Amino acid sequence: MKRRDFLKGLAATSGGVALSGAVGTLSKARARKGGQEDFGEVKSVKVHCISETSWFDNATLGKDIKQAGGINTNQYEVAYTEENLGGYAALVEVEALDGTVKKYLLDSGWSNDWMDYVFEKDGIDRMLQNKEIDTLFISHDHIDHFFGIESTLKHQPDIKMYFPGTAMKKSFELLKGADFSATPGCPKNSVPHKGELIVTNTDKLYKIQDGMALKFFDAPATLQVRGENVLYFKIKDKGYVTVTGCCHPGIMTLLNHARRNFKDGNRNYGCYGGLHIAVFENWDPKFDDIIRGVKSFNMQRIGCNHCTGWIWAEKAEKAGLPIIHGTDKHESYKKVGTLAHSKTSNVYLGNGDSVTF
Ligand SMILES: [Fe+2]
Ligand SMILES: [Fe+2]
Repeated sequence: MKRRDFLKGLAATSGGVALSGAVGTLSKARARKGGQEDFGEVKSVKVHCISETSWFDNATLGKDIKQAGGINTNQYEVAYTEENLGGYAALVEVEALDGTVKKYLLDSGWSNDWMDYVFEKDGIDRMLQNKEIDTLFISHDHIDHFFGIESTLKHQPDIKMYFPGTAMKKSFELLKGADFSATPGCPKNSVPHKGELIVTNTDKLYKIQDGMALKFFDAPATLQVRGENVLYFKIKDKGYVTVTGCCHPGIMTLLNHARRNFKDGNRNYGCYGGLHIAVFENWDPKFDDIIRGVKSFNMQRIGCNHCTGWIWAEKAEKAGLPIIHGTDKHESYKKVGTLAHSKTSNVYLGNGDSVTF
């Protein structure tokens, strides 16, 4: 693709600046004025990576999807190689200005076997049973963030949950206890959700507590999935932090959204999550543009993993972005991602690692 064409495309796609998504639901006049929404501040946020290995081998997943017809196939119609499946989930601990700490769960992974293993490792199962976790946020209903819903619900069926309104019909059925496991790697849930369900849409910003809000972005993704819930935090004296599952709307869209819509929105402090850039470790000139774009926001701490692309994280660090390093903890887990295992640069926050903003 010619660079000029690519730049034209940026305005229309989710990978880049995505101007329309960034403005959100505010009127154009209000967006121009900027800085209208003020949802308070928190003292700190700690994000613990329960699991970022959604699958263990890129090539195997790529082959499964290709065999089923490619990336626009319905995700419930792909036969996945079961031993390749892991899942994505993070524990988010939010310290309010008065020192009170609340725990939240972001996503519920894919393989129930893997999620049982990592939940036990980090004591998430007991936290759920003891109702120490306030809310479950499902970022989006993609395979690796949602198919493992039973692994959370079996410990706390009545957990309060935020769920994207754009989720597929089958994903709503799965919440109620459907079984799609006749297709390999597809989910079943024998524990129907009984708690409060907040189905999100683009109409408003969902304030979770002082200094923490959820914004739904209606962005396209692969396998017929659409829309993503994103967590925003405002850290006192530091600035905004985003926490994402896959970041399908694009990190530039999220940063621009804060800048245009939130009070002091040009103060960005950091981010955690999959950043959905070089997902299959391919390189495209637009990824250099994302490095330059993120750099212009002057973030202080970038914690990335999952679908960010190891190649992007390494190049971003070389270009001067503050990539927080992980440890080798993930190597002690019963399964290790083939890519992570082959790398020594630790530019990913891996399974068992944490970052505090
Ligand atoms: Fe993902
Ligand atoms: Fe995703």
